[in-house]
Amino acid sequence: MDVYGLIGNPVGHSLSPPMHEAGYEALGVDARYVTFEPPVEGAAAAVEGAADLGVAGLNVTIPFKQDALVAVEPDPLARRIGAVNTVDFSGERPTGHNTDAVGATRALRAHDVTLSGTAVVVGAGGAGRAVAFGLADEGMTVRVANRTASKADGLADEVAATTDGADATGHGLDALPELLADADVLVNATSVGMESEETPVPADALHGDLGVLDAVYRPLETRLLRDAADAGATTVDGAWMLLYQGVAAFERWTDREAPVDAMNEALRERL
Ligand code: ATR
Repeated sequence: MDVYGLIGNPVGHSLSPPMHEAGYEALGVDARYVTFEPPVEGAAAAVEGAADLGVAGLNVTIPFKQDALVAVEPDPLARRIGAVNTVDFSGERPTGHNTDAVGATRALRAHDVTLSGTAVVVGAGGAGRAVAFGLADEGMTVRVANRTASKADGLADEVAATTDGADATGHGLDALPELLADADVLVNATSVGMESEETPVPADALHGDLGVLDAVYRPLETRLLRDAADAGATTVDGAWMLLYQGVAAFERWTDREAPVDAMNEALRERL
């Protein structure tokens, strides 16, 4: 039996165990997915120790995504993002990856959103970084807007410096109406809207040519997504991003195509 898991603190309410186990069941893979909650200062040792215990793969969540970067050999994308959310122990040395980026791009593609033109990424924290690098790697022009504009500038500079041919700029939230006027994709990568009726984007800045992904998944139907639907945009809720980051980890670990429908069903049953 293969053991996979999630390391974080806290991890009690994680949706990853049922999502991954639904995947193993659908494919008849003999595996379990468990959660580990080491003390906050013990992350690097725990990741290293997991290999010795025979753990085949780990997802990493808050507050360990940066610690994992030094405990394993990060791939170039994880290094640029500055965070590892997936560790693969199948090689000689554990390798670190970041599937949050592909989680966003696959979620958008699954809804027939074309990843070309201009993307507006709201937020410059962990999620915003992953999304900005992911969309820039698709060849999109990236406009990062953040409450703290200097963080948006910093992220945009890093994206521009490490992505071939990238066009990336940083802005404050006040620039959103202007930025969105000729944008093709909008991603909310802030926590605004989580368990609240707030939105980081003025409703009248939205329009029907946008594909809008909200990384927030509690609630599934955020005010931003309702406003976007009213404007005629294509909407993608945060559970899709959560699903596809898990799908990408699943596929890396098992070398098999993930049973996306079964994993999606298990996830949505619990939201
Ligand atoms: P995560 O890993 O989920 O991205 P994070 O790294 O703490 O979490 O980043 C949170 C993001 O949400 C940041 O972009 C933050 O903006 P600041 O950089 O200005 O702090 C944004 N955010 C959080 N609360 C916000 C609010 N009330 N209004 C606007 N942006 C907010």
